[in-house]
Amino acid sequence: MAKVGFVGLGIMGEPMCRNLLAKGHDITVYNRTPAKMGTLVAAGANAATSLAELVRRTDITITMVSDPVAVRDVVTAKGGLLGALSPGKTYIDMTTVSPEASREVARMVHATGVDYLEAPVLGSRKHAMEGTLVILTGGDEGVSRRMEPLLLGMGSRVIHLGDTGMAAHMKLIIHQIMGTILCVFAEGALTGMEAGLSAEKILAVLESSVVACPTILLKGPDMLGERVFTPNFPLKHAHKDMRLAVETGKAMGIPMPVTKAACDLFGAARDKGFGDRDLSAVVRALTDL
Ligand SMILES: NC(=O)c1ccc[n+]([C@@H]2O[C@H](COP(=O)([O-])OP(=O)(O)OC[C@H]3O[C@@H](n4cnc5c(N)ncnc54)[C@H](OP(=O)(O)O)[C@@H]3O)[C@@H](O)[C@H]2O)c1
Repeated sequence: MAKVGFVGLGIMGEPMCRNLLAKGHDITVYNRTPAKMGTLVAAGANAATSLAELVRRTDITITMVSDPVAVRDVVTAKGGLLGALSPGKTYIDMTTVSPEASREVARMVHATGVDYLEAPVLGSRKHAMEGTLVILTGGDEGVSRRMEPLLLGMGSRVIHLGDTGMAAHMKLIIHQIMGTILCVFAEGALTGMEAGLSAEKILAVLESSVVACPTILLKGPDMLGERVFTPNFPLKHAHKDMRLAVETGKAMGIPMPVTKAACDLFGAARDKGFGDRDLSAVVRALTDL
């Protein structure tokens, strides 16, 4: 079995890596904040003290970090992946990034003779823990097929979408729709509650309506109820994804006024200090006005 290096042990990376360990993979981990490596090392992972050491000790490097800036840091920083990768190795980035950022990394990685695959995921922490993520891949189809058994150690399905950038596009489409739905749901439901409808009635009727959708059913009760916002998908990452979607549309000449308005609401909630809470905290951008 190939040796695997895993970088980025956050909300998603930690359980994804734990599943690979449980499937018997030889795993080396690295996290910018070293304390987060402790539980995985206790579960059998090796700890690398640097990114370069992680690459040297493994055949396949996986990253699951926050955003394109973090990926760029990990790949290009002094002592980063790029200086240590060598022909025969494979690099898989599972972070949600823009198509252009992914293509840029692909160019740099390919220039070292290394295979590159983008592999963003659908699903949140619960799916990461259960190993039921849906993994979208973009890049060489042969590399995707070769990596599929490893990816299936973290997910239930791998869908190859085409060249580098296509999986990143697909992932952003889903998040721009999800974020926009939550904003319009919050606007409508808050108006209904102000008029005297109960949160329970609003949710029950929505559930039996043509606009019933998993995102509303999952996030709605907390958004209209206790508003605990336990972070499953941090709001700061949802805002990042919507921003990347708007920027991608702009670069392609496709206006995105609706996504942009929703993106601004996410930005307002982040500025109010909800960046590390769940994305459902976007409702606070409206309730605090
Ligand atoms: N949470 C979800 O439900 C979900 C679902 C699907 C996709 N995603 C996507 O998956 C990715 C990870 O999400 P997450 O929820 O696991 O995020 P997270 O909990 O915030 O973890 C981010 C990880 O990235 C590392 N990192 C950030 N900046 C870095 C840098 N400059 N250099 C090195 N490491 C850096 C962090 O290290 P430290 O520990 O040192 O901060 C941490 O390990 C994001 O792109 C997100 O959009 C998330």
